[in-house]
Amino acid sequence: PTKLRVSEAISGSNLGANIKIQGWVRSVRPQKKNLFLHVNDGSSLQSLQIIASSDQNDPLLTFGCAVEVTGLLKQSPNQKQPVELEADKIRVVGECNPLDFPFKIKERHAVEYIRQFPHLRCRTNAFSSLLRIRSEATAAIHSYFKKNGFVQIHTPIITSNDCEGAGELFAVQPQRPENDVDEKFFSVPAFLTVSGQLHLEVMSGAFSKVYTFGPTFRAENSQSRRHLAEFYMVEAELSFTQSIEDLTEVMEDIFKSSTEYVLAQCAEDVALFHKHVSPGHRDSIDYWLRTKFPVMTYSEAVDILNRSSQNFVFPTEWGCDLQKEHEKYLVKHCGNIPVFVTDYPYDLKPFYARDNQDHPEHTAAAVDLLVPGVGELCGGSLREERLDLLRTRLEEVGLEDAYSWYLDLRRFGSIPHGGFGLGFERYLQCILGVDNIKDVIPFPRFSHSCLL
Ligand code: 4AD
Ligand code: MG
Repeated sequence: PTKLRVSEAISGSNLGANIKIQGWVRSVRPQKKNLFLHVNDGSSLQSLQIIASSDQNDPLLTFGCAVEVTGLLKQSPNQKQPVELEADKIRVVGECNPLDFPFKIKERHAVEYIRQFPHLRCRTNAFSSLLRIRSEATAAIHSYFKKNGFVQIHTPIITSNDCEGAGELFAVQPQRPENDVDEKFFSVPAFLTVSGQLHLEVMSGAFSKVYTFGPTFRAENSQSRRHLAEFYMVEAELSFTQSIEDLTEVMEDIFKSSTEYVLAQCAEDVALFHKHVSPGHRDSIDYWLRTKFPVMTYSEAVDILNRSSQNFVFPTEWGCDLQKEHEKYLVKHCGNIPVFVTDYPYDLKPFYARDNQDHPEHTAAAVDLLVPGVGELCGGSLREERLDLLRTRLEEVGLEDAYSWYLDLRRFGSIPHGGFGLGFERYLQCILGVDNIKDVIPFPRFSHSCLL
């Protein structure tokens, strides 16, 4: 027999062939004459229907067990399934006691329940769909950058700098017996990276267009629906930029092209979410895809907030950080579509952000993309490329020695440049309408939780 994936078998191109499939049983229905099974192997949301004679029934054939089935692939009389496998042999490869297995046949379990089993939740339909979508979305992002001439850089995971300066670092040191800790492994304090930006800036000075897509880490003590301690970030850095629009154009483009790719490549999996998790969300996405994302300055945003009749918990005068409630209001104000907010107060942004010296208020050329349901999806800025301004700023925060290499980039062929980071998990939440960020990553890490 020819070994096939379930998705290949279901495609119908092997009708009449003697085949073998391997997977996990999703349903068992013994009838008088026949036994019906559904077997899933993760290649698609669909399971393959198996039909066997009742004498092939085996008490070990239960929901969740692993099987290998050989037989004839034929057209199915059943409308729902184009093909079925007429089994001549069913072998139970790995048993699964249904009394102990946490998931029950035909039951739709709550996400909070499923989350308790990070080692088993990929066996549920919803989570296996999510992981296939995540895989395709990753491919979409790499393909976008490749098509547009970006060079991929593997920025380091362990670093000696705090790019965002927000003090949310995890320290890295070797695990050693206590009597051997006198010497630092790296000689300097080392941390898990919060962002690959500074390393990308190095590379943008030689390749013009670079990107990285990897894990980043933040010791944020935040128990929220949109923060993780370990998350994946897509970061791009572009040289010879003229203005913030050079960045918003790429941000909007990558959002739209990746979303179109995922909707096309994972139609069935995405439909599962848009049907059961976020009804009506598909219409919103179609609207976003055909509409230009609005852009407003931070000052305009504050005006809008001040003119609103809503009572915000956090005050909204010029200079304040935009809180979640403000982001939510602004997105709604624009008609529930992703919106860019530009030119934030200079003092709110990290040392690298470019000073908008020509503005009446003291702002930096920074931009955030706010999206419905999630809030901030991307953060980016033009970088301060002028040596004197950057040196002064670093001196003010006492970092000029630590960042002498960064100042060098402004000494040797400095160019106007800028970039942004997109939170990959928040992106998945946004396009699928998933409420909690813990449900879009295989193994979530957050404060007080590092299972497995
Ligand atoms: O806005 P952030 O902090 O920007 C930077 O780190 C820049 N250095 C990126 C750059 O310009 N290259 O983070 C970027 C995005 C946020 O907009 C958000 O979507 C996501 O990363 N993010 C998180 N996602 C999940 N959990 C967290 N704790 C996150 N913190 C940030
Ligand atoms: Mg940010």
